[in-house]
Amino acid sequence: MRRRWMSAVAVTVAGLLSLSACGGGGGEKSTGGEQAAKKQVEVFSWWTGPGEADGLKAMREIFQKQNPNLTFFDAAVAGGSGDKARALLSSKLQADQPPDTFQGHAGAELQGYIKAGKLEPLNSLYDELKLKDVFPQQLVDQLTYEGNVYSVPVNIHRSNVLWFNPKVLKAAGVSAAPKTVEEFITDLEAVKKTGKIPLSIGSEWTVVHLLESVLLGSLGTDGYNALWAKGADWSNANVTKALDNFKTILSYAGAPQDDWQPAAKQVADGAAAFNIMGDWAYGYFHNPPDGGLGKKSKEDFDWAPSPGTDGTFLWLSDSFTLPKGAPNRDGALAWLKVAASKEGQDAFNPKKGSIPARKDADKSLYQDYLAWSLEEWSKDKLAGSIQHGVVANDAWKTAITEAVGLFLQSKDVAKLQQALVEAAKTNNQ
Ligand code: GAL
Repeated sequence: MRRRWMSAVAVTVAGLLSLSACGGGGGEKSTGGEQAAKKQVEVFSWWTGPGEADGLKAMREIFQKQNPNLTFFDAAVAGGSGDKARALLSSKLQADQPPDTFQGHAGAELQGYIKAGKLEPLNSLYDELKLKDVFPQQLVDQLTYEGNVYSVPVNIHRSNVLWFNPKVLKAAGVSAAPKTVEEFITDLEAVKKTGKIPLSIGSEWTVVHLLESVLLGSLGTDGYNALWAKGADWSNANVTKALDNFKTILSYAGAPQDDWQPAAKQVADGAAAFNIMGDWAYGYFHNPPDGGLGKKSKEDFDWAPSPGTDGTFLWLSDSFTLPKGAPNRDGALAWLKVAASKEGQDAFNPKKGSIPARKDADKSLYQDYLAWSLEEWSKDKLAGSIQHGVVANDAWKTAITEAVGLFLQSKDVAKLQQALVEAAKTNNQ
C-alpha cells in the first residue's frame, strides 16, 4: 500500500504572498464583548460557493448541536481552490493573528505550515480519539512531520474526473467517454463541429487543474509520480509530448469563466460537452437548489476518469489544523473533534462530493458517483494533485501557475516546458 502514496515534498509555506488578499466569508464577527469572543470559534476555509458551502453547513450544524456554548464563526474567503484564501491566511499567520482553525491540504502544502512552525501537533487528540485506527496510515503519513501529526483529514477528493453532458456527446456522435488523450482530442473536434463548447474552463487555477490530468493521462502514473522525485527531469520528450497535448486540448476551450462553478454549469446546462474538474463538482451538480443545481446524474451530467487515467486516483485531502496561538484553542479542538468524527464526516462528505477520510464511514450514504469513487479509492494506484497541495509546495505551485499563466498568452510549449524545468530545479531541492 505504501508505494501507492507519493512522499510529500515539503518546503516552507508561501509566506511571501501579499497582504492584500480579498476577503469574503459567510459570517459576521460577534460584537458581544470579550465573553462572546471567547466562545467564538473562527473556522477558516474557502467553502463559500454553491456546492462547497453545503458540506461545511452540514458539519457546522453538528458542531453547534454538540457545542451549544460555542459560536461558529465562518471565516471562509471566496475563491475556488483557495488561492485567495491562502494568501490572506499567510498574512494572518505572519502577523501572529491566526484563526482558531484553518483548512489545509494534506501533503506538501501542510508540510509547509508545519516547517514554518505555525501549527501545534495533534498527537494527544489522535490518541484520545484513537484516530490512527480510523484513518489510512498512508494519509496520516502525509500529515506527519518528525513523528508528530498535525491535522485532521476530513475527506478524500478526486481531481481526475472528466465531467460530460451525455446529450451533447450524443448529438456530436460520440458514443462513450474518451479513454485516452488521443480519443479525447478526436471527441473535442467532433463537438466543435456541432457549435457547442467542447471544453469549459474557469479561472487560471482550473487550467492548472486541467494540466495535472493531462500530465497524468499522457505520462502514465509512474511517469507523473517521477516528476516529484528529487532531481526529476522535466526536460524530456515525454513531457514535451504531454505539453503538446495540453496545448491542443486547450485550443478547444471556451471563454474562461469566473471560477469552477460557472464552467461546470456550462456542462450541466448543455452549453458545453466536457469539463475536467475535481469531484466537488458532483456536490454542485447533485445537491438540491439553492446550494447545488439539482441536476440528474447520467442524464444532465455523467463522469469518467479523465482521459488516459483510468486506474489511478489523483487524490487530495482537506484537513483542519490547530494553529499556534489560536485565540480559542478549546473551541478549535471541539471543531477538530467534529471534523474527525464519523458523524461529522458522514454529514459533510455526501454534500461536499467527497468520500470520507475515515475507513469506518457508513458506505450506504455514498451513492451514485460517490459509490464509484469509494470503489476506485479502494483499488486504484495513487498520484498526488499539484493544484491542491499534495506534491508541490506553495512556492513551486506558484511557479507552475505563473508558467501556465504566461503560456495562456504565448501558447509556446517550449517556453512552458523551460519554465517548468526551472520551477522544479528551484523548488524541488
Ligand atoms: C480544493 C479543495 C476542495 C474544493 C476545491 C474547489 O482545493 O480541496 O475541497 O473546495 O478546492 O474550491
